[in-house]
Amino acid sequence: MEPGEPGWEPGEPGWEPGEPGWEPGWSRGGPALGGRGLLALAVASGAAAWATWALVLMPGFRRVPLRLQVPYQPSSPRQVANALALLRGRAGKTVDLGSGDGRLVVEAYKQGLRPALGYELNPWLLCLANYRAWRAGYHGKVSFLKEDLWKVDLSDCNNVIVFLAPSVKPPLATKLLAELPDGARVVSGRFPFPSWTPSSTLGQGLEQVWAYDMKEVRRAAQSSAQGSPV
Ligand SMILES: C[S@@+](CC[C@H](N)C(=O)[O-])C[C@H]1O[C@@H](n2cnc3c(N)ncnc32)[C@H](O)[C@@H]1O
Repeated sequence: MEPGEPGWEPGEPGWEPGEPGWEPGWSRGGPALGGRGLLALAVASGAAAWATWALVLMPGFRRVPLRLQVPYQPSSPRQVANALALLRGRAGKTVDLGSGDGRLVVEAYKQGLRPALGYELNPWLLCLANYRAWRAGYHGKVSFLKEDLWKVDLSDCNNVIVFLAPSVKPPLATKLLAELPDGARVVSGRFPFPSWTPSSTLGQGLEQVWAYDMKEVRRAAQSSAQGSPV
């Protein structure tokens, strides 16, 4: 179709400057966006990205400082198996801090770690976790609580699982040291606690998981504090 033929629209390919209907700012293939158009596009893209972040990826995180927010990334089956292998033979209250779709909590319960519960802020993930528990036949046996992991009291926990970003490990180490009993074990997936010495570890690369016994962690912290110059 050529310019001037019935049905031809300005801005379609073939429209040349100077032809009837041409206006400055139009280019071959359609009208150029111009400054305002680009600004509108940028604002719309930003709003879409924000809506995805706030409504899908991180709903429920409004009160959590940005530096402490950890997005969802599920553990692989190998990571789950490694984490639970490091808790084999243990007993007592077991929690997953940021439990996602509940896979670690359900497997922990299956392994006999009871009570088993997860703390999670994302309501979509809480629904998924409850569905997973129901499908496994554990409805009402495991719990998923809509709580901020930074605000829960961990003083009665015996086994703590954390699959969280390395950036939050230092403040989390402070919380765990302050609250967990001596007999507690912390299992950390993907990233170790930088200043703690693990009692054992399992797996390689991204599948690696570390176990920390709080009594040992405290002993090491005390002896390094005594050995360091004041
Ligand atoms: C890396 S994912 C791990 C999910 C799950 N533990 C797993 O390994 O499959 C971290 C999870 O922690 C949750 N989370 C992050 N910050 C949280 C907070 N302050 N309180 C509760 N949950 C949180 C996120 O929504 C996300 O589901």
